Amino acid sequence: MSIDAEPSGELLLAEVTVPHTELVRSFQEAGQAAWTKQLEGTRTPEEVAYVYDPTDPDHLEAQAEGIRQKAQDGGVYLALAHAEGGEVNMVGYAAAFSHMSGNGLARAIKGHVFGREPYVEISIVNVVPGFQRKGHGGRLLMELTNRFGETQHPTAYVFDENQVALGYFQRRGFVFSPSREPQADRRKKPQTPTPQKDYFGPGTEPAQQWRLEAPEGAGELRSDINHIAIVAGHQALPVRQMDQLELSHLLAEARAKRED
Ligand SMILES: CC(C)(COP(=O)(O)OP(=O)(O)OC[C@H]1O[C@@H](n2cnc3c(N)ncnc32)[C@H](O)[C@@H]1OP(=O)(O)O)[C@@H](O)C(=O)NCCC(=O)NCCS
Repeated sequence: MSIDAEPSGELLLAEVTVPHTELVRSFQEAGQAAWTKQLEGTRTPEEVAYVYDPTDPDHLEAQAEGIRQKAQDGGVYLALAHAEGGEVNMVGYAAAFSHMSGNGLARAIKGHVFGREPYVEISIVNVVPGFQRKGHGGRLLMELTNRFGETQHPTAYVFDENQVALGYFQRRGFVFSPSREPQADRRKKPQTPTPQKDYFGPGTEPAQQWRLEAPEGAGELRSDINHIAIVAGHQALPVRQMDQLELSHLLAEARAKRED
């Protein structure tokens, strides 16, 4: 579908709490497609598959467990699928959760000794290439930030020299910001990325990780995103909220048909 194509079909939005394998596999396929395009020429398919692998059952189970845990702690996972003429495909997904890493003691120290407030980590926004630049990424980000309080500093991490993702967050009001971890180096300039060793697999070039925060008072951010969502023609392409189980079944059926 080209950018100018009239949107048709139906978008299906589901919130995921108990991740069914078919949904997790579709997330991994969508993530792999989005990152392969984004990091083309800088990361190999094997490096991308280290992060997103729809074929490895152990990887899928680890991902499912992560989603289960985060959802239990109040995290939000959203699945966006597109249905048209009996075809159903996952076209995007996004996740955010309140972040206060570490075990009970570490959390208590961060909270009570350093007075750190948990912030919302926007951990994933992925839209498959054929559906990008139509407002779906903005829509997913809006749905995520709307679930959390105004003062929770929605924070995104961007890996590698990913100008599309950096611009996407910056144009929505996010700014480079230093880490809120108590042990963070306060002299470090926020727009200097932090190297993350082995992010794309053992022995690979370290990933460069940028940290961006939404400005205080996310109301401004929201109205901006709302505007983008409307500009992108969401009135023409309605989102139908649906049960994740129903969506899993639709995706499984679509996969079975494709494999026939
Ligand atoms: C970053 C990403 C999620 C953006 O998704 P998207 O669906 O393209 O997002 P949107 O369509 O809402 O916005 C993208 C741009 O398209 C523009 N746009 C939106 N609707 C449009 C339309 N109908 N016609 C033309 N342009 C449009 C927006 O203005 C926006 O521009 P900007 O980012 O320069 O401000 C997507 O590129 C992606 O998945 N990238 C790979 C993974 C990644 O890096 N994720 C982020 C870090 S986890």
